Amino acid sequence: MTQLIKFPENFLWAAATSSYQIEGAWNEDGKGESIWDRFSHTPGMVKNGDTGDVAIDHYHRYREDVALMREMGLQAYRFSIAWPRILPLGRGNIVQAGIDFYSRLVDELLAAGITPFATLYHWDLPQALQDEGGWTVRSTAEAFVEYTDVITRALGDRVKNWMTHNEMSVVVNDGYISGGHAPGRKNDFVGAVRTGHHLLLSHGWAIPVIRRNSPGCEVGAVINANYNMLGSNSKADRLAHNFGDGIWVRWYLDALYGRGYPADIREKLQTSAMVPADQWDFIQPGDMDTMATATDFVGLNYYFRGVTRSNEVPAEENDQQTVFQMPKDDVNWTEMGWEVYPDGLRHVLARLYFEYQVPKIYVTENGASYSDAPGPDGRIHDERRTHYLEGHFRAAHQAIQMGVPLAGYFVWSLFDNFEWGHGNSQRFGLIWTDYQTQQRIWKDSAYWYQQVIKQHGIAE
Ligand code: FCB
Repeated sequence: MTQLIKFPENFLWAAATSSYQIEGAWNEDGKGESIWDRFSHTPGMVKNGDTGDVAIDHYHRYREDVALMREMGLQAYRFSIAWPRILPLGRGNIVQAGIDFYSRLVDELLAAGITPFATLYHWDLPQALQDEGGWTVRSTAEAFVEYTDVITRALGDRVKNWMTHNEMSVVVNDGYISGGHAPGRKNDFVGAVRTGHHLLLSHGWAIPVIRRNSPGCEVGAVINANYNMLGSNSKADRLAHNFGDGIWVRWYLDALYGRGYPADIREKLQTSAMVPADQWDFIQPGDMDTMATATDFVGLNYYFRGVTRSNEVPAEENDQQTVFQMPKDDVNWTEMGWEVYPDGLRHVLARLYFEYQVPKIYVTENGASYSDAPGPDGRIHDERRTHYLEGHFRAAHQAIQMGVPLAGYFVWSLFDNFEWGHGNSQRFGLIWTDYQTQQRIWKDSAYWYQQVIKQHGIAE
């Protein structure tokens, strides 16, 4: 008999999605326009001109989708709520039909024995708020609290696990620096730090509201932290590595866990004139304490290892030429161009627990993009995805053995779906989506995951 690596008794096996990526029905039942509607409708922003207008039509197919989750054996499901379905203009007028959709979804999940984990903000900001400055202005953080109040009043009796923001650093860096995500600003460093600040602030403000409306609930933020290694021993690379870790990871974790913004990074932003010294007045007294309001858990989204090289110094002028790099094959690199590196998950989990003393952690996203399609036998032999997940489950188990309080694992994603700037071209699903017919087909990895859940463990 094969030996099993067993997970702790209450460990949750789960999967994740987000509203804009799956729902479709972009303008139905009174929903307002979001910044992702605007962005994807702007020519040239999303690969192949794909949009989330229909996505995988989950808005109309949620019953059938929950039935699939039940069949797979999922114990929990992470989804997000589209703010503009609830308050089309971001504040003020409430649309009951939007609330009713999520209410029906939650009832359906509970009836199937699946615990709902709801994310309040997974990037689909009401466009009306963007028109007033979006997250760069404090009033958007205030509007977020109003929205949080409305939706947690409606669902707080049944949803007991709440996540405020998904990946604040991606909202900041992709939305305001690279411009690859909505609202598509490039190199707006002042806009970036202001955005990060108001996201963090709104997270802190929302916590007591959620607790009041959802007695006995647990609340946390979802951060993304990949494993970053230093590419060489050159001074330029060391500085770049520290800065990269600072703006992607420490900026948020330090703020959430009461250390304030990292002084070295703030200094660098100021001295490089990216964010001049006179531009920091958006930080008001008390803000840093608000952000550090205690939470129950942190959600970690982990995907890959990065190897940092400075791009400030051309490679040939760098004082150290030995650069670490894995050979690029198509098993150890996913179609996103992300390196498969399970050990990194263990390192990042350990860092969260030992450096920040986080009381409880969920892996809120982890998964791989491979486009394996139905073969002549009608099946989808995506063994690379199974291999990816198995390696990461093993790393998670090792972290648990080290004492990390990891409570559950949400595979990204349950279905192939709209992958932001990549449109429908990147497929992360356990379940294949045929975008023409909306047929859902289980991939081999989905059958494998069903087995893992049943056995509550993976083969030794
Ligand atoms: C994360 C996002 C999620 C999905 C995965 C692949 O950054 O939170 O929506 O797109 O990447």
